[in-house]
Amino acid sequence: MRRKRQSAWSRDLVRETRLTVADLVLTTVITDSESAEGPVPSLPGVARLGLDALVAQAREAASLGIPAIALFPHIDPSKKDGSASEALNADGLVPNAIRRLKAEVPEIGVIVDVALDPFTDHGHDGLMQGDVIDNDSTLDILARGAVILAEAGADIVAPSDMMDGRIGIVRDALDEAGHPDVMILSYAAKYASAFYGPYRDAIGTASALRGDKRTYQMDPANTEEALHEVAMDLNEGADMVMVKPGLPYLDICHRIKTEFGVPTFAFQVSGEYAMIQSAGENGWADSDRLLLETLTAFRRAGCDAVLTYGAIRAAKLLKS
Ligand code: PBG
Repeated sequence: MRRKRQSAWSRDLVRETRLTVADLVLTTVITDSESAEGPVPSLPGVARLGLDALVAQAREAASLGIPAIALFPHIDPSKKDGSASEALNADGLVPNAIRRLKAEVPEIGVIVDVALDPFTDHGHDGLMQGDVIDNDSTLDILARGAVILAEAGADIVAPSDMMDGRIGIVRDALDEAGHPDVMILSYAAKYASAFYGPYRDAIGTASALRGDKRTYQMDPANTEEALHEVAMDLNEGADMVMVKPGLPYLDICHRIKTEFGVPTFAFQVSGEYAMIQSAGENGWADSDRLLLETLTAFRRAGCDAVLTYGAIRAAKLLKS
């Protein structure tokens, strides 16, 4: 076996999996509050961006060949309420960000989350009736929100809320509103995970969140249920499906890719990225190599693309 491993060129020749810049989606955090701009302490290497900085980052990503950017909003706490009304503001942070990107960096694809957690004062992805997350009243606002994002120019909407029936409702709403070409990337297998911690800091929901999300996000112990979720979402009209978190769930990525053969994305979430970054910053491991090795592992498991906070870094490493 060692004959083929002797030199870089022969290792290159027999390599089974390729990681390229075209496999990366840049994950960004944006904010409508000037005082919140800047580094996120629990997510080393990631900053909340105002819209000028977002455009600059998108430009850099596009020039490196990164195909798409995904936006996650930090909303000023004064705009949050129990009904997530800011999610329906056509002049809100996310629609404005989409319009800026489409006008100034038209070559990059724009992916936006559809979920209520950035906009609710309780930090949940759905509306609450007492202590319960109410599925069906949430669907209506998700669908209306998705249409607003499509109207602003989003290329892909990505429902990440884990309400039942949301993909079909969003698809119908987009079609009826005259947006049949807007794609849906479904967070189909989204687990109730501790790896989301730094993200919740980044968008300012960590301290607000009441209870946990286990009544709608999946139990990390389940595989068959993930396949069931994917089957339902495809049936309702999802164009691509996503697994989240990523690295601890590579078996799920592999099962989905082999059983359905559809575009399968993974999200290298905030906690995964923070682990890589903090190990590097402490001198415990080489974080550049950790990043490329983990991203390659997603490809080996069958993922078509990976959402990562490290897309620009990885793209530069791949070039050099
Ligand atoms: C929820 C949402 C989450 C992430 C993005 N959208 C998870 C959550 O808070 O439950 C996590 C992203 C990350 O950890 O990087 N709509």
